[in-house]
Amino acid sequence: MSAEPSFPTLRMRRLRYNAGVRNLTRHTRLHPGSLILPLFVRSGNNIRQEISSMPGQYQLSLDQLVEEARQARDLGLGGIILFGIPDDKDHHGSDALHAGGIVQQAVAAVKDAVSELLVLTDLCMCEYTDHGHCGILHEQGGITDVSNDPTLTLLGQQAVTHAEQGADIIAPSGMMDGMVSAIRQALDDADFKHIPIMSYAAKYASSYYGPFRDAAESAPSFGDRRTYQMDPTAQAAQALREVELDVQEGADMLMVKPALAYLDIITRVAQNYPGIPLAAYNVSGEYSMVKAAAANGWLDEARVVDETMTAIHRAGADIILTYWAKDVAQRIGS
Ligand code: PBG
Ligand code: ZN
Repeated sequence: MSAEPSFPTLRMRRLRYNAGVRNLTRHTRLHPGSLILPLFVRSGNNIRQEISSMPGQYQLSLDQLVEEARQARDLGLGGIILFGIPDDKDHHGSDALHAGGIVQQAVAAVKDAVSELLVLTDLCMCEYTDHGHCGILHEQGGITDVSNDPTLTLLGQQAVTHAEQGADIIAPSGMMDGMVSAIRQALDDADFKHIPIMSYAAKYASSYYGPFRDAAESAPSFGDRRTYQMDPTAQAAQALREVELDVQEGADMLMVKPALAYLDIITRVAQNYPGIPLAAYNVSGEYSMVKAAAANGWLDEARVVDETMTAIHRAGADIILTYWAKDVAQRIGS
């Protein structure tokens, strides 16, 4: 850095002295094609039930979901990611595993109506199990916990049922060890070798998921997810070990989640895996906090959201999953 002149030869304010210069030197630019909109789907007709903890987000019946998908396409979004709310939950999450399941129907409906829109499916058991955990349970030494390896079998089956209905990308979010290779194997065996896996590779046990669990009706009925989701207080480099495993298992794209409290993790993963598309999930709690403050007139929602998206992108995420995807795209487009 020795070649740099110093003040008064150097005046950094010259790089921002008017809007044209600021525009010319802008480095982080948002694009609708990098944004993915999460959507919640349930059974019924003509239902748009607002989620009380997430103003502006809805549980949608299939017909309404298709309307949202059309808007997502018209705005040029990168895609949508679907979460299902089944009518019935049971111990093994059966609704997750067959063609008549709510998400499977949703994928088929969207692909039928808006075939060019990219459809991702979140792959996990917690929306479908009556206990709300991300896999099937076992008891060991008096402690009930998610049983890793039997859950892998179910995730493989679930992935194939999504792909059969036309899902473009499978995004496993359960943080089971070995989930990427199990899903890859199941997809390959069913001749879905071309379907990419976007792994929630570094997903933390976060309090920021609270509003989502209302939205998806997926809160665990006992305990928490700390035996499978990552510990926020662990070494940051542990995230790199998680990522490395997923890469070795064949993950095509990676995700860090949540986004804002884990920008350091996003940056580390981006720097260590520059050749792998990296997504970040701007989660429900990050959304609801800003919504609540904006509703009180305490901050300017649009400006805060654009600044937030910029930060996540600048930290190193190529792709952002956000409930604000439509709003941001509208602003970029206008
Ligand atoms: C399912 C899943 C969750 C989220 C995405 N997939 C909830 C959880 O892990 O409890 C959270 C998304 C959000 O908060 O917006 N495993
Ligand atoms: Zn889950």
